[in-house]
Amino acid sequence: MKIAVLGTGYVGLSTGVCLSEIGHHVTCIDINKEKIEDLSQGILPIYEPGLEALLDSNIAAGRLRFTTSHREGLKDKDIIIIAVGTPQREDGASDLSYLEQAARDISRYIVERSIIVIKSTVPVGTNEFIKKMIEKECGFPIQIISNPEFLRQGSAIHDTMNADRIIIGHDNKEAAMKIQEMYRPLNVPILLTSIRSAEMIKFASNVFLATKISFINEIANFCQAVGANIEDVALGMGKDKRIGEAFLKAGIGYGGSCFPKDVEALLHTANLYGINLALLKETIRINKSQKELLVKKALHRFGELTGKKIAMLGLAFKPETDDMREAPSINIARSLTKLGAEVVAYDPVAIKNAKGILGDNILFVNAVEEAIWNADALFIVTEWKEFLQLDLPNVLKKMKHPIIFDGRNCFKEDQIRACEFVEYYSIGRPDMIIGME
Ligand code: UDX
Repeated sequence: MKIAVLGTGYVGLSTGVCLSEIGHHVTCIDINKEKIEDLSQGILPIYEPGLEALLDSNIAAGRLRFTTSHREGLKDKDIIIIAVGTPQREDGASDLSYLEQAARDISRYIVERSIIVIKSTVPVGTNEFIKKMIEKECGFPIQIISNPEFLRQGSAIHDTMNADRIIIGHDNKEAAMKIQEMYRPLNVPILLTSIRSAEMIKFASNVFLATKISFINEIANFCQAVGANIEDVALGMGKDKRIGEAFLKAGIGYGGSCFPKDVEALLHTANLYGINLALLKETIRINKSQKELLVKKALHRFGELTGKKIAMLGLAFKPETDDMREAPSINIARSLTKLGAEVVAYDPVAIKNAKGILGDNILFVNAVEEAIWNADALFIVTEWKEFLQLDLPNVLKKMKHPIIFDGRNCFKEDQIRACEFVEYYSIGRPDMIIGME
């Protein structure tokens, strides 16, 4: 099939690359000239494991192209996929301006057989609104499909090629069948729904997962108070198939480009309908407070943080990405510096993006060793594999004081017990003080 993808962010790019990988001819369109020039030469604007290899091979095979020209990119396409961003507005609502611009661009070049697929995360009712908008401008009836995306950053290719499900929200069977046909080579479960249900599935899924995280974080704090261990508790709960093991990892709160934005956007839509989503409000409150937890623990331990050198390992909102959007590291770094601490941070890939947000407030270094040298305490903020594999006794020797605040529960009890001297504070587990009693 001949496919156009509008927008080359995480979703657009991963979708375009994967669709070309399964044999379609894909043209990705973006208004950012520099990005398109780079992508045409196989240069990625983001860090995403596995993406570059597929990008190169599909460009070489002649199935994947990039352009800034809507005329060239949209001409004569069977399917036009919209994957532009819907960022959060000041009032929490989704900003639909990129989507509306995409609709205007499409209406100039669309042909009658083209089916439009909206992948961007949009509030209920948006697909119908965009359909009307395009029909008004192009002058003939069009088919629109709501096809929300569930891929995660850091595993975008895997998630696309092995999706748990593909949702096709439609009001026309024939158009739905065409989109089903487009995805057929992936051989994953496909669910046909109404357009509004598809839009809601995306939001309900993301806010459920965000709530699951806030739930386990709240239970973690409770475990800490009563001397239980959240890792054992989560495992014991997760073995119940009705609960499931995924997304029960306690930590310092969810971040990223989706959960925080989608929870706010759903609350905003609910308000418009006079619906009170009380549980979601708690999800947000717990998450905000969880992002402050490591700093609170450090304050409790030290009394004050003025002049303390804190080594911070991890900046990205999660491992395998350089994305800093809503990362807990931002709150933590700002709170620490406000309290007079000196923060020295290292991340394998996110330093460039972090500098853009945190500026000169903290010091960025290029290796774990530089960060930990002479540190009063170590904060673990992102669970990169490199940190899970640290030689802890060696790390602790290089610090001024062997004190760890682990926001991601990276180490097991016996790993801590194997250290000669250490104070170890983690999430939802008993504090451990070894060799200093
Ligand atoms: C999420 C959804 O998972 C995906 O389906 C949707 O399309 C986009 O939003 P993403 O933001 O890339 O994906 O990352 P995800 O792996 O879901 O993690 C989100 C945040 O939750 C991260 O900050 C992560 O650290 C946190 N998290 C996740 C936890 O704190 N505990 C968990 O058990 C899982």
